[in-house]
Amino acid sequence: MNIKSVCCIGAGYVGGPTMAIIAKYCPDIQVNVVDINPERISQWNERDLSDLPVYEPGLKEIVEKCRGKNLNFSTNMEKYIAEADLIFISVNTPTKTRGIGSGQAIDLKYVEASSREISNYARGHTIVVEKSTLPVKTAQTIKAILDAAVKGEKNLEKKKTFSVLSNPEFLAEGTAINDLENPDRVLIGGDDKEAINDLVNIYSRWIEKEKVLTTDLWSSELSKLISNAFLAQRISSINTISALCEATGAKIKDVSLAVGMDRRIGKYFLNSGPGFGGSCFKKDISNLVYISNHYGLFEVAEYWQKVLDINYWQQRRFVELIVKTMFGTISSKTIAILGFSFKANTNDTRESPAIYICRKLIEEGAFLKIYDPKVKYSQMQKDLLFNDQRIGEEKWVYSNSIYETFENVDSAVFLTEWEEFESLNWQEISIKMRQPSWVFDTRSIVNMEEVKKSGINIWQVGYGN
Ligand SMILES: NC(=O)c1ccc[n+]([C@@H]2O[C@H](COP(=O)([O-])OP(=O)(O)OC[C@H]3O[C@@H](n4cnc5c(N)ncnc54)[C@H](O)[C@@H]3O)[C@@H](O)[C@H]2O)c1
Repeated sequence: MNIKSVCCIGAGYVGGPTMAIIAKYCPDIQVNVVDINPERISQWNERDLSDLPVYEPGLKEIVEKCRGKNLNFSTNMEKYIAEADLIFISVNTPTKTRGIGSGQAIDLKYVEASSREISNYARGHTIVVEKSTLPVKTAQTIKAILDAAVKGEKNLEKKKTFSVLSNPEFLAEGTAINDLENPDRVLIGGDDKEAINDLVNIYSRWIEKEKVLTTDLWSSELSKLISNAFLAQRISSINTISALCEATGAKIKDVSLAVGMDRRIGKYFLNSGPGFGGSCFKKDISNLVYISNHYGLFEVAEYWQKVLDINYWQQRRFVELIVKTMFGTISSKTIAILGFSFKANTNDTRESPAIYICRKLIEEGAFLKIYDPKVKYSQMQKDLLFNDQRIGEEKWVYSNSIYETFENVDSAVFLTEWEEFESLNWQEISIKMRQPSWVFDTRSIVNMEEVKKSGINIWQVGYGN
C-alpha cells in the first residue's frame, strides 16, 4: 500500500515527538495526531513554541518546520481515523488502580477505547500499529475488537479490513529526538508481511534497514517490557552499590567507570541516584511481575519485584538520612529542592522520586522551596496533592530563580541532574543559607570540594559525607 495518511491516537510524550519525526522525514505523508484531551491539542497548536506540552531538546524546531504543512494536531478523531492508511495507537497504559490485578496489571481501557474508535471510523484497509507499551498478547484484544466491526458489516462496499502490528517505542525522555533519529533498532512485530513492509518503508526514509528488526507480535510486545525491566534493573543494581560505597569508602563513580568499561556490561545506566521515575519503568516491571505470577512463575515474579523494592528503599533511605543528619528533626526547618522532573531535559514528573521525597519531607514538618528549570508551578501543585487535597502554600513555595531558592534555607536537596546544577557559585550560596547548612546531593553532580570550601556540609550519594 502507498501510505499517504498516518494518524496517531495519543498526543503525549511518545505520540508528539514520534509523529514530528515521521512528518520531518516523510514530507509526502500527512501526519495527523489526535487526542481526546482538547487542552493538550491546543498546547500542541500554541503559537509560542516554548509552551508545547512536551519539552524535548530539538522538538520545537521540528514542530515549527512541519506544523501546518504535513503535521497536524486535532481532536477530530472521526475525520483523521477515516482518512488514515496507517494508525498508531500511542495512548497511555497506566497500572490498574482497582479490581483484579490492581497495582500491577496494565489498565487497557484507553487502548480498548482507541480500538473501538478505529473500528467505528476506519474506512477500507487500515494498518493498526501498537506504539504504546502493552502486555504480551494485547494485539489479540485489539484484533478481536476490530474483527467484530468487520464481521458486523454486511455491505461489501463498506467492508473494512485491518492488519495489526506491534511497533514499541524505545525513546528515552530527555533525548527523544536523538533517539528517534538514530535508534539502536526499530522493532516491528506481526504476521502480515505486506503491512510490515509498509511500516518498514516509512522508517527506512531515515534509518538503515539493517536496524529494523521484525518478529512475531508476542515477541515484539514482550521485548519492550523486558528492555525496560533490564534498564530499571541496572539502576536498582547500582543504587544498592551506592549504599555499599558510602559504607566502605569506595567511590561510586570509580566503581561505575571500572565496571562499565567492560564491554560485556557497558557504561550506560550506571549512575546512582534517587531511583528511577518516569511513566514506564515502575508500571512495566509491575506488569512483568503480574504476568509472571499469572503464568505460575513465582520465582521470576519475586526476582523482578526486588528491582521495584530497591527503588523504594533508596528513596526511603534518603529521607531518613536527611532527617537524621539535620539533628533528628526537620520540623520548622526550610529545605531547598533542586530539580523536580524525574530526570534532566524533560518537564515530565510522572513517578518522579521528587514527589515521594518532597511529600515525606513535608510530612516530617519541613517547609520546602522547590526549583526546577522546566516544571511548571501548576504541575507541582498537582503532584503534591495529598489525599486529593492540595498541600497548601504554607508547606511549600515555587521558586523561579535558582539562587533565590537558597535564601534562608537550612539544607538543599539535589534531586534531578540538570546541567546548571553542576557549576553553581557556592561562595554566593553559602552566604544565603542558614548555618549550619547541608547539601544532600542524590545525583552526585555538585562539586563536593567547592561546597566544602564554602563551609557547607555535604552528603553525596555513593560517597557519603
Ligand atoms: N514516555 C516515555 O518515555 C515512553 C517511552 C516509550 C514508550 N512509552 C509508552 O507509550 C505509551 C504512551 O506514553 P506517553 O508517555 O506518550 O503517555 P501520555 O500520557 O503522555 O500520552 C497519552 C495520550 O493519549 C491520550 N488518550 C488516551 N486515551 C485516548 C483515546 N481513547 N483517544 C485519544 N487519545 C487518548 C491522552 O489524552 C494522552 O494525551 C505508553 O504505553 C508508554 O508506556 C512511553
